[in-house]
Amino acid sequence: MATIALINSSVQTKNYTGFTLQIVKQELLKKEHNVVEIDLKEFNLPFPGEKIENDNSAELRKLLKSAEAFIVGSPEYNGSFTAKLKLMIENSGYPSMMKGKPVGLVGIASGVLGATKSLEQLRTVFSHIGSIVLPRVVSIAEIEKKFDDDGNCIDQNTESEIKLAGKNLSKFLSLIKTQ
Ligand SMILES: Cc1cc2nc3c(=O)[nH]c(=O)nc-3n(C[C@H](O)[C@H](O)[C@H](O)COP(=O)(O)O)c2cc1C
Repeated sequence: MATIALINSSVQTKNYTGFTLQIVKQELLKKEHNVVEIDLKEFNLPFPGEKIENDNSAELRKLLKSAEAFIVGSPEYNGSFTAKLKLMIENSGYPSMMKGKPVGLVGIASGVLGATKSLEQLRTVFSHIGSIVLPRVVSIAEIEKKFDDDGNCIDQNTESEIKLAGKNLSKFLSLIKTQ
């Protein structure tokens, strides 16, 4: 089965993006995929042209290269995706190590409108770098009402919606394998 990287774009100590991605992870494991977790708060990444200490960008590119597909999870911050995620894309190689590979998008937000704005922007950027963005995205509104403090999802519809991200990517991978 495929190696799929789950990318957590939040750097909050305990974050809802991480809670959400754990549900996707379980779904992918059920389908017997290998799951690699990329937690962006663990990566020191430079802006293009910048020299920084403890630069983890080469390690990041190695992980991205090893994955055949991705689930990218991001909270909506100020009507967009996180700055750390943009920095990850800048450090993903040029051309990107994500080029030509399927990407499933999962967005979460506090607001009632969900993460629709950030998801649209992510679709644009990932299409630009040559990833194959799956048509169906997952957007979860009022995220704080959907999980308890221990990270358990307390809303069944939300849980089913999040699982779709894993199911759809797995289905897409098996479809392209038979072509
Ligand atoms: C800097 C910042 C900007 C935010 N902007 C938005 C926003 O534009 N729309 C929204 O619905 N929620 C917004 N939020 C709320 C986050 O989407 C919410 O706190 C979410 O749980 C964060 O996910 P995380 O816990 O994975 O970091 C913002 C939060 C922060 C910290």
